[in-house]
Amino acid sequence: MKYQRIEPAYTSKDGCRIVWSGVDEDDTDTVILNKNELEKLVELFKKNSVGEVELEDQSSYIRINSDVTQFSLSNHRLLEADTNQIQKEVLEYAKVPHEPQYVYIGTKEFYPSVWVRDDKKEQRGISTKDPQKSLIQAILSSEPEKIRQDLSPTDLFRVFATRRSTRKFDKSKVEDWKIDKILSAADVAPTAGNFQGFQVFLVKNPKAKEALVEAANKQPYVNAPVVLVFCTDPSRVKLKFTPKILDKFSLQDATIAAAFSLLAASGVGLSTIWIGMFDEEKVKEILGTDLRPSSILCIGYPDKKKPPKSRRHLKELIKVIE
Ligand SMILES: Cc1cc2nc3c(=O)[nH]c(=O)nc-3n(C[C@H](O)[C@H](O)[C@H](O)COP(=O)(O)O)c2cc1C
Repeated sequence: MKYQRIEPAYTSKDGCRIVWSGVDEDDTDTVILNKNELEKLVELFKKNSVGEVELEDQSSYIRINSDVTQFSLSNHRLLEADTNQIQKEVLEYAKVPHEPQYVYIGTKEFYPSVWVRDDKKEQRGISTKDPQKSLIQAILSSEPEKIRQDLSPTDLFRVFATRRSTRKFDKSKVEDWKIDKILSAADVAPTAGNFQGFQVFLVKNPKAKEALVEAANKQPYVNAPVVLVFCTDPSRVKLKFTPKILDKFSLQDATIAAAFSLLAASGVGLSTIWIGMFDEEKVKEILGTDLRPSSILCIGYPDKKKPPKSRRHLKELIKVIE
């Protein structure tokens, strides 16, 4: 990671953000300093002194050496910057007061997933509103919904906007309460006739997890900290329809339940990969069930948080039938 710049904090005029970037364009690391931390750093840099600034969590610190300044952060790789460069930029930055940057996360505009609000532009946008426009036209022509950065991490729209599949999990254990939340999300999903035509298998057995990797075309990330297999169970759907319709209902039940679990996992700070590519017969054998598996949801802490992928424009996604 290479030190890039110092910039204003998003929500406060005090403190700052110090940004590093890697080889990939979406690979960045940012250290956010509060008022005190920045002041201490400035003080040391002004004195041309080596020394340490302890950060708020009391286990992370910044170590200023004569050649390199090191950001030693708990649960994070070491970040470094050339002392001459960062000293110069921090002192320049501290000379003038800074306004906070207001940052939003858009539901459809994914990269960059955050951008800085231009208040003037927004005001201009409001005045051009056409009261005659139909609702659907307004939706199709509208700017992406803007979501405030200070929304709760569990805010549904924030989860939509920031979720991203992960194929590399870190080794940390997922707390039981989080697993409970993920499973209870599956339980509250809507189902055909409320018959809950699905079953969830929580696979803890390490050998079974390895066997699932094989069954899923050798996708190694299937051996994740938490593995859920969603299966259809049409026999639970007590509706008077043909077996074909009951199969369809239970497939939809299992799929929406898995989607609820996926969102719940994202809401509690975890990441997921949805696996659709697997040999159904092998998975049945591993689980010891006759139920048809519809998806495998692999969950854990992401090795690295990535910005969401882009999608088609909303106008292409929606076909209006008038
Ligand atoms: C029905 C379905 C099947 C999928 N199967 C696989 C799979 O077998 N292996 C995999 O690595 N990802 C799989 N994915 C994940 C997608 O590749 C991923 O969601 C997509 O690239 C969009 O990226 P995002 O989730 O980060 O937005 C699947 C997703 C869905 C919805």
